[in-house]
Amino acid sequence: MKYPKEYLQEIKNRLKTSTVVSKTVSLKKRGKEYVGLSPFKTEKTPSFTVNDEKEFYHCFSTAEHGNIFDFVMKTQNLRFGESVKYLANLAGMRPYTFSKEDEIREEKWNKYKLIYAKYVEFYHKYLFKNSLAKEAKDYLKNRNLTVEEVKKFKIGYVSNDENFKEEIFKEFTESEIKETGLFYFDENKKKYVDRFRDRVIFPINNISGDPIALGGRILNDSKYLAKYINSPETPFFKKGNNLYNLDFTRKLSNNINNIFLVEGYMDVVGLSKNKVDNVVANLGTSLTTRQIITLSQFFHHIIICFDGDESGYKAALRSAENSIIELKPEKEISFLFLPNKHDPDSFVNEKGKEFFENFSKSNSVPIHKFIFNHYSKDIDDNPSSRAIFEKKLRSISSTIKDEFIRKYVLEYFLGKISDLTPNTNFKYKKNYSKPSKSLKSTQNFYNETKSFTAIDIKEFSFLYILLKKSKLIKNNFNLIENVKLFSSENKLLFEEIISQTNKFENSDIGNLKIDQSLIDRVLKYASIKHILTKNLNDDQKILEILSELIRDLKNYELELRISDLESRFSKDLSETTFNELKELKKLQKIN
Ligand code: CTP
Ligand code: MN
Repeated sequence: MKYPKEYLQEIKNRLKTSTVVSKTVSLKKRGKEYVGLSPFKTEKTPSFTVNDEKEFYHCFSTAEHGNIFDFVMKTQNLRFGESVKYLANLAGMRPYTFSKEDEIREEKWNKYKLIYAKYVEFYHKYLFKNSLAKEAKDYLKNRNLTVEEVKKFKIGYVSNDENFKEEIFKEFTESEIKETGLFYFDENKKKYVDRFRDRVIFPINNISGDPIALGGRILNDSKYLAKYINSPETPFFKKGNNLYNLDFTRKLSNNINNIFLVEGYMDVVGLSKNKVDNVVANLGTSLTTRQIITLSQFFHHIIICFDGDESGYKAALRSAENSIIELKPEKEISFLFLPNKHDPDSFVNEKGKEFFENFSKSNSVPIHKFIFNHYSKDIDDNPSSRAIFEKKLRSISSTIKDEFIRKYVLEYFLGKISDLTPNTNFKYKKNYSKPSKSLKSTQNFYNETKSFTAIDIKEFSFLYILLKKSKLIKNNFNLIENVKLFSSENKLLFEEIISQTNKFENSDIGNLKIDQSLIDRVLKYASIKHILTKNLNDDQKILEILSELIRDLKNYELELRISDLESRFSKDLSETTFNELKELKKLQKIN
């Protein structure tokens, strides 16, 4: 039996190629692609590229090429079926088991989708065409929606259209229709009625873009009717698994790092109308870890922006405690609080996109700070209250799955707590002199070293020798004068060293007229430091090391040209580019 195309497509939709590949290959972003060392061959220079937009990987040293299924099959030596199971699991999907039951379910699913598609299409058109929808049209106009948003979100208006209902009941069985939750049986009238009648409807799509549920809003707020209703949970719609508008936003994720997570349909529509397209909603339920995991697959930074009222704040707090569990290195979750009485929809409509985005940049609070700030508001100046506070924070940080995040969040909490106990925590304070900054500074150091490439570090080593052995360098000036550095800061320093070396006669190199921090970086990060200190008087040895470094730097230049060609090749797939590439790779081997 074959896997249904849609099941495989769903896996692909949920997983970026780079997400799958980076489980086994460490990737670096370069332009629109990622590069890394080929998993198909041992190599020193990366010739393996991944393109998320085109959903493939390509290895230039072995000509291996394929999608996520090929990748898993080849790197883990699995058969197709096993790779599907592995990836489905990674994507948070149920395994596909091909039992009779599965077949029935598959058939039901197809019917379910079909009914929803017809329903949504019909009532979307109905909104534009039918005179009975005038009130709904006026309502949407009053809320400042234009045809563009109505079409983009396929908004509709449901009236109890008997003809359409008849048609549906002819085409599908009663149980197929019942399963969708679109109609319910009215015991008094002894007939099926539209659950969403007299409501504006917002189709909720799954990640692949099929409508699988609806949200419906009444036109006039009333005491007796719920403002919004949703489709009931069905075998194919679980509220906590879905995010409104994710099918659209996931396509932006190759170019955008941030996603706004809001509460309501109208928040998504309002932001989108104001050209803030990277937004999803969790539909008024509390945010689930499943939703956070899904969003993190696509975006680095989730900005949770709920309504600026008490219930929005409470929802934010619940979301923070739920989602901090899933926080991962290199991912961020922040909270954005709007001025009282505003929700994202009203705020962006009043202030516009630019203001909203600036406001979000300067007012987003990282998740650990939000949690700390919240609980610290309630503490009274007595031991019991403080003890409860510390316990609470410790217990929250202990739920975090990632051990590094867990450690640094706890560190942040404890640092702040130690400010409350300046005497007993004296020892603690001494060890962590600025506790409130520790999380940030640790992160900075981590980010700093991580942001240096291997080649930056080589350049540091090269410059380190120049700084420490200025006389030796002056006497062997020909060695270094044609060396090319890549980091612009290192280049500056290099130029300054060269000009000073030319100037000085017998004494050592003079004061460098350059920002001290550039020199400090070299002194701090040059990996050559220890070897050099050991051999400081062995000039021969030092010249050898220097030559080796210079050769590596030259090779890097070659590598850059190769990688440019590789990106070009992955686009044009032309013979000439490939031959040029081969030539350069030969050169690289000789060097
Ligand atoms: N919601 C719901 N049932 C309600 C109220 C709200 O399911 N009775 C959900 C809906 O998904 C809604 C979200 O919670 O979109 C946020 O609620 P609210 O802030 O009241 O909705 P808005 O989108 O601000 O609604 P509107 O602007 O249309 O009044
Ligand atoms: Mn709202």
